[in-house]
Amino acid sequence: MSTNTEYIEEMIREFLPKEKGFQKTILEALNYSILVGGKRLRPLIMHETYRLFSDGPVTNDLKAMMVALEMIHSSSLVHDDLPCMDNDRFRRGKLTTWAKYESEATGVLAGDALMIYAFEVASSAYAKTKNPERLCKAIHILANKTGIYGMIGGQTVDVELTGRPMSAEELDFVFRLKTGALLESAMMIGAVLGGATLKEVEICRKIAENVGVAFQIRDDILDVSGDEATIGKPLHSDEKNNKTTYVSLYGLKKAQEDVEALTAEAIRLLDELPGDSGTLKELFTSMVSRNK
Ligand code: IPE
Ligand code: IPE
Ligand code: MG
Ligand code: MG
Ligand code: MG
Repeated sequence: MSTNTEYIEEMIREFLPKEKGFQKTILEALNYSILVGGKRLRPLIMHETYRLFSDGPVTNDLKAMMVALEMIHSSSLVHDDLPCMDNDRFRRGKLTTWAKYESEATGVLAGDALMIYAFEVASSAYAKTKNPERLCKAIHILANKTGIYGMIGGQTVDVELTGRPMSAEELDFVFRLKTGALLESAMMIGAVLGGATLKEVEICRKIAENVGVAFQIRDDILDVSGDEATIGKPLHSDEKNNKTTYVSLYGLKKAQEDVEALTAEAIRLLDELPGDSGTLKELFTSMVSRNK
């Protein structure tokens, strides 16, 4: 994936808090957790989806939502890496937040802080918005896809079933929620802010659901067959934690075939939307064989 995401880095930096005051440690840990790297796929997908429906420039609303989503995603990784969850010390080629600060409490607090700061960022767009209704809908989607009906719901079942065999149905549920939900929010929010109809927003959700499940299958593949230096996180984390993965359930070959099939379905559905979806198609296609 060679897409330029430097403009997203700049947007993120614009919203970060100053590292000062008695709570300086949490501000540093928050900034570290998001600035440490990452592919920035979710804000990129949000922006590209917006462009299907609107040819206008990036609005303040869109910018705030792009940054907020990347903050939520990063916060989910900070918590995912904690000793009480996947117990991983490396991510994005650097120490994970709890390992960097040698403090589990700092990891918990930095994840919490980043997750709630995301909503501070998102709702701050209200001051200048030309379309409060769309902004409010977007914030609702973000909350819904983050919480008990989204990423957190999925992570809960993922953690609960760790060390026990998971059925195909349970694994599908976990993938759609822990990973699919935030990708759904990326496309749905881009669509809502761009002025899509309800039907178009639902098509976007469906596309992202397919892409999200494919993304997690590829993540499970990389956990067993990737290159540690390239992916920037430890291999065999799933095996270490006795997790049922797509690979342990179906084998490597079917896993990759399903990544391809789910992506093909997403690309087919893109044709039901207006606008030029060439960039999204290219992006989704490159994600099929991503190495990081
Ligand atoms: C990692 O997401 C967690 C999963 C949902 C598999 P990414 O692979 O998008 O992580 P970053 O943001 O690029 O580090
Ligand atoms: C977690 O899945 C996805 C999240 C919602 C954080 P994994 O636990 O497989 O993600 P990685 O491999 O640590 O990035
Ligand atoms: Mg995990
Ligand atoms: Mg993990
Ligand atoms: Mg993984």
